[in-house]
Amino acid sequence: QARVGLVGWRGMVGSVLMDRMQAEGDFALIEPLFFSTSNAGGAAPAGLAKNETQLFDAFDLEALRRCDIVLTCQGGDYTSEVFPKLRAAGWNGHWIDAASTLRMKDDAVIVLDPVNLPVIKNALARGGKNWIGGNCTVSCMLMGVGALYKAGLVEWMSTQTYQAASGGGAQHMRELLTQYGTLNAEVRSLLDDPKSAILEIDRKIIAKQRSLSAAETANFGVPLGGSLIPWIDKDLGNGMSKEEWKGGAETNKILGQGEGFGTPAVPVDGFCVRIGAMRCHSQALTFKLKKDVPLADLEAMIAADNAWVKLVPNTREATLQDLTPVAVTGTLTIPVGRLRKMAMGPEYLGAFTIGDQLLWGAAEPLRRMLRLLVE
Ligand code: HSE
Repeated sequence: QARVGLVGWRGMVGSVLMDRMQAEGDFALIEPLFFSTSNAGGAAPAGLAKNETQLFDAFDLEALRRCDIVLTCQGGDYTSEVFPKLRAAGWNGHWIDAASTLRMKDDAVIVLDPVNLPVIKNALARGGKNWIGGNCTVSCMLMGVGALYKAGLVEWMSTQTYQAASGGGAQHMRELLTQYGTLNAEVRSLLDDPKSAILEIDRKIIAKQRSLSAAETANFGVPLGGSLIPWIDKDLGNGMSKEEWKGGAETNKILGQGEGFGTPAVPVDGFCVRIGAMRCHSQALTFKLKKDVPLADLEAMIAADNAWVKLVPNTREATLQDLTPVAVTGTLTIPVGRLRKMAMGPEYLGAFTIGDQLLWGAAEPLRRMLRLLVE
């Protein structure tokens, strides 16, 4: 059985990954070696470990070199530190990584097999060894509407995202909830009194939001609870956030088109916004299609694309029921709804889609890539 080094398996994405690997029986197909940055020599997780029952040091190149495959959710700093050294030491195994560090390298494939299996297979045939998970929003979006790209129908796409706290990390989720709690506590007695004045509640809330302590905004920098933040990731200095840049760059790379593939890229652009959801990223999409295709045909195409996409009828009732982060969290379902032709003309299609940022947005494409390698 392939020896698979697991790094960063205890963090938030790593824990979701371990759960999914157990649920799908992946451990039956591998010999796992568990790595740790803090507890080398300790016991590997009982129930998951097989013959390799102790934790290895995640920076121990000799131990890593024993692995046929390394699967890491440890983060970008770890990748930057360890990956080049491991390759320089002559290790020729498969590197599967959740971090963005290597994503845009020419010899790396962004893996999302329900969308880009041909790209993955092509790279495998050419000896590819670096398999990187995509940006969470991009992966969730393509799981929903990849059909339109596969059919070559998209002239351009504009995205408006509604990204959950979990995209920042576990601490960000805690901070959001702490803020909600602080705000609620500030006006609880007024809320308990049905005759209290709403504008007094509102005044107290805004005063509290503006005076939250540095500790209560340490991760997001400003309040998110009861507000939003229209900037995610670095400032690229050209008016774009790095998250917005990823939308275009990664979408095209996943699909195997644009720079490096000798085909034109499809323009993808829009605004990325952090909102107070926990772990589902949502997106409002506007497509300019290359031609006028009947809505029913587009719906059928999207619905038939993969086993996880779920077409939500464009009605108020169905939307409230199935097209919210609360409905989707913890599931692999990718609902696509609000599908309609827009006022700009018959080639303009609107859609709204949601995905669990920790599942399709992070863990699931990685474990599926592992399966492709070991089966
Ligand atoms: N950049 C994403 C976010 C994380 O902040 O939501 C997942 O790629």
